[in-house]
Amino acid sequence: MEVLFGRRSTRRSCFRALEMQPARFGSTVASLAFVFFFLGLLVAEVEEEEKKKTFIFLVDPKQKPSPFVSHSHWYSSLLPTSATVVHHHHSLFNGFSAARLTVSQARSVGRCHGVVAALDDYLLRPHTTRSPSFLGLDLPASRLSATSYGGSAAVIGVVDTGIWLERPSFSGRGLGPLPRRWQGRCDQGAGFNRSKCNRKVVGARAFFAGYAAAFGITNTRRGDAVWSVRDHDGHGTHVASIAAGAPVDGANFYGFASGIARGVAPHARIAIYKACWDEGCMVSDVVAAVEAAVSDGVDVLSLSIGAASPAPSYELDPLAVATFRATIRGVFVSASAGNGGPAPRSVGNIPPWITAVGAGTIDRDFPAVVLLGNGTRIRGTSISLRRHQYLLGRRHQSTPVVSAGIIAALADLTNLSVAGFIVFWKSNGHVSRIEIAAELKRLGAVATIVFHGEFDPDGIVAEGHVVPTVTVGSQGAATIDAYLKTVRNPTAVIYSQGTAVHPGVGAPVVASFSARGPNPAVPWVLKPDLLAPGVDILGAWTGSVGPSGLRSDARQPMFSVASGTSMSCPHVSGVAALVRSALPEWSPGEIRSALMTTAMEAGIRDEAKENSGGPLAMGAGYLCPERAADPGLVYDLEYEDYVELLCGLNYTARAIDIITGRAGVRCGDAGAGLWGFNYPAFVASAEDVTLMGEAVFQRRLRRVDVGKKGQWYRAEVASPEGYAVEVEPRRLWFARSGEGERVEFRLALRCIEDSPNNGRRWWWRGGSLTWREEGGKKRRVKSPIVVFSISDM
Ligand SMILES: *[C@@H]1O[C@H](CO)[C@@H](O)[C@H](O)[C@H]1NC(C)=O
Ligand SMILES: *[C@@H]1O[C@H](CO)[C@@H](O)[C@H](O)[C@H]1NC(C)=O
Ligand SMILES: *[C@@H]1O[C@H](CO)[C@@H](O)[C@H](O)[C@H]1NC(C)=O
Ligand SMILES: *[C@@H]1O[C@H](CO)[C@@H](O)[C@H](O)[C@H]1NC(C)=O
Repeated sequence: MEVLFGRRSTRRSCFRALEMQPARFGSTVASLAFVFFFLGLLVAEVEEEEKKKTFIFLVDPKQKPSPFVSHSHWYSSLLPTSATVVHHHHSLFNGFSAARLTVSQARSVGRCHGVVAALDDYLLRPHTTRSPSFLGLDLPASRLSATSYGGSAAVIGVVDTGIWLERPSFSGRGLGPLPRRWQGRCDQGAGFNRSKCNRKVVGARAFFAGYAAAFGITNTRRGDAVWSVRDHDGHGTHVASIAAGAPVDGANFYGFASGIARGVAPHARIAIYKACWDEGCMVSDVVAAVEAAVSDGVDVLSLSIGAASPAPSYELDPLAVATFRATIRGVFVSASAGNGGPAPRSVGNIPPWITAVGAGTIDRDFPAVVLLGNGTRIRGTSISLRRHQYLLGRRHQSTPVVSAGIIAALADLTNLSVAGFIVFWKSNGHVSRIEIAAELKRLGAVATIVFHGEFDPDGIVAEGHVVPTVTVGSQGAATIDAYLKTVRNPTAVIYSQGTAVHPGVGAPVVASFSARGPNPAVPWVLKPDLLAPGVDILGAWTGSVGPSGLRSDARQPMFSVASGTSMSCPHVSGVAALVRSALPEWSPGEIRSALMTTAMEAGIRDEAKENSGGPLAMGAGYLCPERAADPGLVYDLEYEDYVELLCGLNYTARAIDIITGRAGVRCGDAGAGLWGFNYPAFVASAEDVTLMGEAVFQRRLRRVDVGKKGQWYRAEVASPEGYAVEVEPRRLWFARSGEGERVEFRLALRCIEDSPNNGRRWWWRGGSLTWREEGGKKRRVKSPIVVFSISDM
């Protein structure tokens, strides 16, 4: 990727309608300094120069030449006739998305007076019930659920694949009237009658013009079957129900995970913004959805979607810009951290104002057993076997097993004779496992055993296969391999042990697939921020397609089981809605601080063996909502803090302008922004610490408990191995009794013993700082301290 900067001298007035009145326009231009910001244009590849794409143009609205009666007249005058405007943006930022422009045309529009930036459109994809009680949110014991009335005052905006509104999870029964400030609406669409919206689903809107342009779909009539809010995928329905589904008795997936299914914030309202279609979600549509959500009045935005790779810089990423402005308006933005783990630096959705959520397990799984013909039992997981039943009926009726090796393409399966066999196969992570298993079934396999392969050797998640399938880990796979090699007529019996719930034992664990830090762009800001349940999660499902997502899958369960950071993100969205309901005056930064400093981190293991957990895998720890509403102290983060961080990162004034939308930001002492960014974690690279001799972080804490007058908090430090940590002062005194008092402190990190690199590509050392309330409730405000070293990859 390459960033091109236009020159000031190349700026021109390029309005077709204005060419008659250059003098008048020229004076307008001279009076406004804003026009002198240079254009930055992201150009994916030079050879794609003439390929037509969509661009998102940010403009300075004050620069609209007066002859144009409206901004939309102005915008269309800027474009070549072949291009079309697909979205107007006028709430979070001013500008428009325009389709069918070549890079050189876009560059040329970008040079026009009043155009601030031209940003590339790009594709995001969805990051594919017991979990609320595992989090401790069971009513009536939960204080948070009670004080927040289940989140009924909060609206969660879900930008995703739409909704299957008829599921009981989306019943509005028993809910009070909508929050008065709510401005949202439901759009009529094919198969989607807006009168079905209720006190639970309070908004449903579709955004598709960017997608239609990108995929050359010419039929863009709103309300046509393709463009309905109705979910034809399942992902949107699933995540919405996780965040705020109403309680449903007797929910289950073919007998698995049965019980009461309930969203994290069961009384919170849901507003659906459908911006994801068959191939994914164009950011031009996502940004339009985010804008609509913020204008409608959502409290929380839940984004279980992500791009293939992060933009090189926030001002080049329309979603980073839109979410920044949403955050400044008080909207809490949570997003999935991505499923690219366990590789380091795989984390996505990393702008510092977004809460990036990794995935952990819960205390429930779906054990299944492969009993080899020689008597060895291998444990795995399955939701595609019938519960408690032996495959093919009887216990001792073994079935022949055959190995299909690593399946790298569906074509590898052609002519495979597997009829009547249990097929053992390995995934390479690039072809849909669901489709491979379906093809094996078509070829006559009676069941399959799958190993998720080298890219995720320790990952064991249950998937909605259309053929009975057991997923095994690397050890199990090795045993099966050895058995198949040494035995002439290998056989096996496979069976499900149903649903196992094991409170307090072995959970949570960081899911192997959960994306990891260090933060690839801004290593000082810990990403992911925290973990939430994301493995084998039960949620409502669409009636349009079976749980495997295959068109041939005729199953129509009301609930399905899915895994991914897509599933962990709405857990955090739900808890944020509860906190917002209970404590409406808290800013998004304060809510995040509360979630992070109260998270649980002790004893959390990592499913991936190569990558031993720690804060770069789990952030501050595992979401612990009960404590989140009563953290004692918060690290607050406001507009100025973000600007100082951008200054510290050497963002140009122009870049900061694009992100903030406020002209004329001046940077002060640059270093303050990096080490003084008031984020509830302390992260430094070993190289920085060595170079500076000492890394000194400045932070401030705001007291949020209304307690007795005068309160001490005491620092408890666990130093990372090889490092010394000094906190000054060691005790913090909050003199007033009310909320809101702020106290500052500094933390210095010094290397006392060089960490041997041992030729490893990367390493990390973790510690923590805990502010412990003296007396009272002994609240703890805990933050990770991380030192890492990573050689360039
Ligand atoms: C939507 O539902 C309402 C109430 O059930 C009904 O009167 C109306 O005809 C429906 N509209 C469409 C377009 O189906
Ligand atoms: C599969 O079998 C058919 C018919 O026997 C043959 O024409 C084809 O080449 C085979 N394909 C592969 C990939 O072996
Ligand atoms: C069955 O075979 C596997 C693979 O060779 C071996 O590891 C295992 O010990 C055998 N089990 C028994 C009970 O012999
Ligand atoms: C910002 O620029 C200064 C001066 O060139 C440099 O020392 C510093 O390392 C830069 N900071 C970052 C985060 O790149």
